[in-house]
Amino acid sequence: MDKSYELATLGVRAGQARSQFNEHSEALFLTSSFVFESAAQAAGRFTGGDDGFVYSRFTNPTVSMMQDRLAALEGAEACIATASGMSAILAMSMALLKSGDHVICSNAVFGSTVQLYSTILSRFGLETTFVSPTDIAQWKRAVRPSTKLLFLETPSNPLTEISDIAALASVARASGALLAVDNAFCTPALQRPLQLGADLVIHSATKYLDGQGRVLGGAVLGRKRLLMETVFPFLRTAGPTLSPFNAWVILKGMETLELRLFAQSASALELARWLDSRPQVARVFYPGLPSHPQHELASRQQRAFGTVVSFEVKGGREAAWRLIDSTKLISITGNLGDVKTTITHPASTTHGRLTPEARSAAGITEGLVRVSVGLEAVADLQADLERGLGQDPTRTR
Ligand SMILES: Cc1ncc(COP(=O)(O)O)c(C=O)c1O
Repeated sequence: MDKSYELATLGVRAGQARSQFNEHSEALFLTSSFVFESAAQAAGRFTGGDDGFVYSRFTNPTVSMMQDRLAALEGAEACIATASGMSAILAMSMALLKSGDHVICSNAVFGSTVQLYSTILSRFGLETTFVSPTDIAQWKRAVRPSTKLLFLETPSNPLTEISDIAALASVARASGALLAVDNAFCTPALQRPLQLGADLVIHSATKYLDGQGRVLGGAVLGRKRLLMETVFPFLRTAGPTLSPFNAWVILKGMETLELRLFAQSASALELARWLDSRPQVARVFYPGLPSHPQHELASRQQRAFGTVVSFEVKGGREAAWRLIDSTKLISITGNLGDVKTTITHPASTTHGRLTPEARSAAGITEGLVRVSVGLEAVADLQADLERGLGQDPTRTR
């Protein structure tokens, strides 16, 4: 499909490959393997001389459609889908790095990403230096001759810090390393890292690409040659593969991606402004507020400010838990990116494995609450939060 179409059009149309039945909606190919017309064709498919499908660990038509649609949205030459966001980061790292290599990683990435680099990949001789997501000088100072990858996530979770992708792409280029951006929070609807100079984009499709909290999935995107020579052989051999069913759910989720992201971001901005006006709220973290330290950068780099709003309530953990327990509509769950609004206490859940010192260094206070804003009416969300922000702690769920 012509890649010059607008994002909304690509989200609905890109990547579709119709079968001989000419179905209108994308078909779900639930099959582990494909049949060959002859032994010679089977041989050709296995060696790659013949292009057809072989085995769903590495080739499936529904997964291909999902990959092609996401590649079109990100403006990438190629996309390789994986079973989850974490397996996308693992596949990229195993495919591109080797013992003795050095990685520079933002210290504000998803907790499991920190664990992956610091406790698992470190056992295979990979060294990782964690640096501030916003202080470019720290990234420059961390560069070594063995640095092969710079990795970041923007906005960060849960404090919504914004990294300057173009500036860090220059740092990567100057050091002969690749820049990978985890774009799960913005998605291509709001931010296209490859256009800003990144080499690779990572997705947890579990979040906004599905958008309705149904399945896990992930993806690595970038230049075709790089991915086909490194990530694809890893996936084919090691098998952290996206199932066709999950690919189909995500493929259909992408059809409403841009609409959802803009509607949810608009609601998040309204909710952030309202929270900022509440006397019980000490501080709101949302890139759309002019008080956010990287508001100007976010306005340049993103098409909207995203759906995650974090805020610190006065009164520490007790007040935060009281607020969370007082909600009747908002779901208490660790996931985000859903059309249903979710609420989390990072210090005791997503960041609970950190030591109190590490948590405090990361800015995760006991009073911090993270909300991922969905598609409900903002007035209903405000009423749900107002109950817990009020003075009456007896009116709980
Ligand atoms: C930014 C980000 N990257 C990666 C992941 C991991 O994705 P998954 O849960 O699909 O493995 C998450 C999960 O929350 C995330 O928020």
